[in-house]
Amino acid sequence: MEVWKKESVLLFLPLSILLSGLVKVNALSYDYTASIECLAQPHKAQYGGGMIKNPELNEGLIGWSTFGNTVIEHRNESDGNKFVVAGKRNHFQDSVSQKAYLENDKLYTFSAWVQVSEEKALVRAVFRTVTGLKRAAETVAESKCWSMLKGGLTVDASGPAELFFETDNTSVEVWVDSVSLQPFTQEEWMSHHVESIEKTKRRVRIRVETKGNPVVNSKISIHQKVSGKPIGCAVNKGILNNVGYQNWYTSRFTHTTFEDEMKWYTTETVQGKEDYSLPDSIMTLMKQHNIAVRGHNIFWDDPHYQPNWVPSLQPNDLSAAANKRINSIMTKYKGQVIGWDVVNENLHFNFFESKLGPDAAATFYKMAAGIDHSIPLFMNEFNTLEQKGDAASTPAKYLEKLKNIQTFMGAEAKRMAIGLECHFDVPSLPYIRSSLDTLAATNLPIWLTEIDVKSGPSQAMYLEQVLREGHSHPGVSGMIIWSAWKPNGCYRMCLTDNNFKNLATGDVVDKLLKEWGIKATVEAKTDAAGFFEASLFHGEYEVKISDPVEAANSSVSQRFKVEPRHDSQDQIMLLQVST
Ligand SMILES: *[C@@H]1O[C@H](CO)[C@@H](O)[C@H](O)[C@H]1NC(C)=O
Ligand SMILES: *[C@@H]1O[C@H](CO)[C@@H](O)[C@H](O)[C@H]1NC(C)=O
Ligand SMILES: *[C@@H]1O[C@H](CO)[C@@H](O)[C@H](O)[C@H]1NC(C)=O
Repeated sequence: MEVWKKESVLLFLPLSILLSGLVKVNALSYDYTASIECLAQPHKAQYGGGMIKNPELNEGLIGWSTFGNTVIEHRNESDGNKFVVAGKRNHFQDSVSQKAYLENDKLYTFSAWVQVSEEKALVRAVFRTVTGLKRAAETVAESKCWSMLKGGLTVDASGPAELFFETDNTSVEVWVDSVSLQPFTQEEWMSHHVESIEKTKRRVRIRVETKGNPVVNSKISIHQKVSGKPIGCAVNKGILNNVGYQNWYTSRFTHTTFEDEMKWYTTETVQGKEDYSLPDSIMTLMKQHNIAVRGHNIFWDDPHYQPNWVPSLQPNDLSAAANKRINSIMTKYKGQVIGWDVVNENLHFNFFESKLGPDAAATFYKMAAGIDHSIPLFMNEFNTLEQKGDAASTPAKYLEKLKNIQTFMGAEAKRMAIGLECHFDVPSLPYIRSSLDTLAATNLPIWLTEIDVKSGPSQAMYLEQVLREGHSHPGVSGMIIWSAWKPNGCYRMCLTDNNFKNLATGDVVDKLLKEWGIKATVEAKTDAAGFFEASLFHGEYEVKISDPVEAANSSVSQRFKVEPRHDSQDQIMLLQVST
């Protein structure tokens, strides 16, 4: 008796249900908001200013003093907004200052609104601490409107500190308003991860019925096919013909990037002789295991990583070769990759601009948008989250470049996406999170594309911290760990030894994949009313119903999506199995 047809309907009935069983967090919630617009009025100080005295400058200059050789004054605008001005500056650090006692076990989030009296200038917030200067944030400030500066810091030793603002051009005044410095304990910081991840979970109720009647005791299994926040790991040709590594790798990951195999210097070592056999072989393997591939990369702006015949080309020939390259690889892998790093490391290097002019990269992005109409086109850069001190690629610089490219792309501007490499030494968590806040204000997809941590006793712990920051940030769409194994090692960080036994870093990854329900399977039976209920993370799932009725010999499966929760809506799903 075959009562079950492989036909089923999923109905999504939004229903407001009070969330029970949610981890209650008593800590002060983190404020993820950031503004990248230059506004007529600054927003109010976040957290009411936190530790900052007189954060809105509504009480004259109370709490504020001069830093260096400058004159500060209290001013108001016609709309009544009051702020502090540092003028007659002699040194790039001459500005306005406030003292605060900073503790080495706290994480500090900082924000402020700034403008300069004329034109535009990079303004940086810095703390003078007992162990030296600590940068907190920077932004490009403009005149006649207010820009938000958001960042954060930790200190090496507890002690008094002084906040001040740097800007190179001493002939401009620095205006400051709505300043906030909010400390969080480690526990509070961790609770923000939990709070944020809980928001992506939804209760899903599945009712199994046949002819309108509930099916009781039906065996249900729900398997996650794709996480809403994928975590992948890079691979290279080392995975080909290595069954041990293939098993280790494919049981864990759903997304990948090829380390070098798609790069121009690999696919066209001799001009005019394209050879895609290596990336094709890896692609075939990944497809067999339903592993999605990020395209990496079409061009790399670093002069050291060109095919060796490229640097000597004359501009016209380079332009022709580059056109051929972008068309060739993008057409070849159209429909097979989920995004492209189009011009790698464009903030640090300028090989193509130096040969083809200042719009070279922007031109490539525009071409890419025309060749493949669907996938996101990434900038991919290092040190934006890793090193506050690298002036080339701070979030402010990243946004400036992104805007230039977007302006050039016109209607295709929304195709851009933000790739952040994440090769860490010692991560600064408040800086990472606030920088992500700022970049997320673009509303573009953000991927952490090449996550690793330098070797050392804290490597696994730092890796865990970074992965938690990335996974829980509402603006981050996915992460790739940069840990492609090959017999002679990994780039900076391996997850396994050569026998595919986890290292401490691999254990961290496994722990987190489990905690976040990645590739998880939930099994249970329907209750007396034919219902089954589960709390599921944002993602794509397959539900299988087997043994539906005694003696029946069939099963039904259906895929469904769990969207991130909005407000307190739960997802009620009716899985109707018709006969
Ligand atoms: C600043 O405030 C004072 C007192 O409220 C007011 O008289 C003055 O007009 C304001 N200045 C500006 C520029 O609006
Ligand atoms: C500094 O600012 C002044 C006033 O806006 C401007 O005239 C000058 O060109 C700037 N100098 C530099 C080096 O940018
Ligand atoms: C059910 O399926 C199994 C294997 O597919 C088969 O061995 C068995 O005979 C079937 N039973 C009935 C009642 O059809």
